[in-house]
Amino acid sequence: MQRFAGRNKEMIRLCTKIPEKFAVTAEMLKPFLQNDTLRSELSNKRFFVIDHSILNKCKKGNGSVVCSPIALFYRRNDDKIVPIAVQLFQDNADDNPVSFHSDSKYTWILAKMWFNNADACVHQSISHLGYTHIVMEGFAVSVHRHLSQSHPMFKLIAPHLMYMMTINELAVGTLLKKGGFIDTVVSVGTEGAFELPNQMEAQRGRNAPGQPQREGCRQPRSSFLLPLPG
Ligand SMILES: [Fe+2]
Repeated sequence: MQRFAGRNKEMIRLCTKIPEKFAVTAEMLKPFLQNDTLRSELSNKRFFVIDHSILNKCKKGNGSVVCSPIALFYRRNDDKIVPIAVQLFQDNADDNPVSFHSDSKYTWILAKMWFNNADACVHQSISHLGYTHIVMEGFAVSVHRHLSQSHPMFKLIAPHLMYMMTINELAVGTLLKKGGFIDTVVSVGTEGAFELPNQMEAQRGRNAPGQPQREGCRQPRSSFLLPLPG
């Protein structure tokens, strides 16, 4: 459930068709399906996918390798949603094999590790830096410029924007500077961290977080698809 309620929960989508670039067949997935065929399980809305294609051409920091993975998740009969297959890069190619839950222990652990590293880059750059700090700074300015301090909306929003400018200013001068924390610890580096929110913004209206269209294609929070918390 961490993919739906964890730190980077905006990325998962309902999967109604296996993407062509994802090199899995019905035969390969059959051992993981508890009920029926791949086609029926797709129509039963039991598959979910995270596709970090946005990392495909992103700049990398300090010669790091960052994959652009696709991960497939399956909702089992006990309503647990588990990863069953990971492809580390976008191309359907011989040198880009798919790893499965049934692979040897360390192969599967490494596949998940690389996926999670890519996921962390997306989270830090887009969900956190982009949509939590950079975009919200504009809202902070606007709220203080245009709303009266006695306006009910100001009362509601202002506490959430407290210290926004301060922390952004501090982050630019320390965390985000060349050779700083983000540049040395996050695999996309500072350049990639600034580039990724721009790339995501360029996609807005098609598939980006917060867009109504996106909610339509995402769907996983529907109680028809997911078990309600007990
Ligand atoms: Fe933050």
